[in-house]
Amino acid sequence: MTVPVMRPWLGVEESTAVADVLASGWIAQGPRVQAFEEAMAERLGADHAVAVSSCTAGLHLVLHSLGLGPTDEVVVPSLSFIATANTVTAAGARPVFADVDPVTQNLTPDTITDALTARTAAVMVVHQAGVPADLVPIAAFCARHGLALVEDAACALGSTYRGSPVGSGSRAAVFSFHPRKVITTGEGGLVATDDVELAQRLRRLREHGMSASAHDRHASGSVVIEEYLEAGFNMRMTDLQAAIGLVQLDRLDHIVAERRDLAARYQAALTPLAGIRTVTDPPWGTTNFQSFWMVLEPDLDLGRDEVLEALLVEGVSARRGIMAAHLEPAYRGRIREGRLPVTEYLTRRSLILPLFHAMTDAEQDATLSVLCRLAGRRP
Ligand SMILES: Cc1ncc(COP(=O)(O)O)c(C=O)c1O
Repeated sequence: MTVPVMRPWLGVEESTAVADVLASGWIAQGPRVQAFEEAMAERLGADHAVAVSSCTAGLHLVLHSLGLGPTDEVVVPSLSFIATANTVTAAGARPVFADVDPVTQNLTPDTITDALTARTAAVMVVHQAGVPADLVPIAAFCARHGLALVEDAACALGSTYRGSPVGSGSRAAVFSFHPRKVITTGEGGLVATDDVELAQRLRRLREHGMSASAHDRHASGSVVIEEYLEAGFNMRMTDLQAAIGLVQLDRLDHIVAERRDLAARYQAALTPLAGIRTVTDPPWGTTNFQSFWMVLEPDLDLGRDEVLEALLVEGVSARRGIMAAHLEPAYRGRIREGRLPVTEYLTRRSLILPLFHAMTDAEQDATLSVLCRLAGRRP
């Protein structure tokens, strides 16, 4: 048996939706993107949703809209996929790395405080692996210090915070539809916002700064000569992707429910094992378990790579836990090693187990039996 770390759910409905777009003759950003945005806004409880080519692109656009310069700093967790930090660099500002809470793997007002300087302009919170960050105290902190707050919600579609979807009521929360996420469009992203001016600006920036989109001009039936109001980008989602996204969105609740059941089964088997700690829901919300991570506690005489190797031998494809950007060549030297102790511990001692909606009990048991054997217990 081989167990992949992730298997997206793609069926005949997606094929049909893509075939319909092809038959329509309009495959670039158009009516399907608009329909996807409307469906996502409704799902998230956001006033506006702006689809883009990736979460990285969406974060870049949001940061660009803040008008940051080379002396501006944006506090980000180092413990995140490197795109989080890269978007700050791409927007012309400087990422400053903060440590995270050991239980949620997310920023807190305390960890942000340690990274604050007179040049801090914004904070980018990540809902890491789908676990919602405790946003209300962070928003209050940012308001007190006059800082913009941006949510990297790449992993968090289907997670909730204080009873609402992550991203509702936000000034800017950005989601990813990469195939490792709970639903996918191949590549793709989306900004949710309650700020109408920001939404308008993002729509313009994603399409070269144009005053009227290519599809709107085409659909108008009259001669429309567009203007280019500011220097923009090409960060559009295509109708082919949006058509897949619409089908996937219908599957979201089912996928999250399956993931939560599988996660509960992992937790029941792993929690009794001494020295293993797993991801859980925080008190303020629910996670979609976009990634099921576990940490090897210090007293457990077992290395992360040893566990990955033992799983691989049995055909189980696990992954290292969340990376730490400040330890990578791209950002090494920005902050002295040892200054982010929780981040460094988590990145070296955690791993991500396979989890996908259609995972069978046999596939999960194959994973668990290796872990139970290594941790000294039978399943
Ligand atoms: C926390 C986080 N931010 C940003 C991204 C980038 O998303 P995308 O691949 O859609 O650009 C990812 C993707 O893995 C992520 O995990």
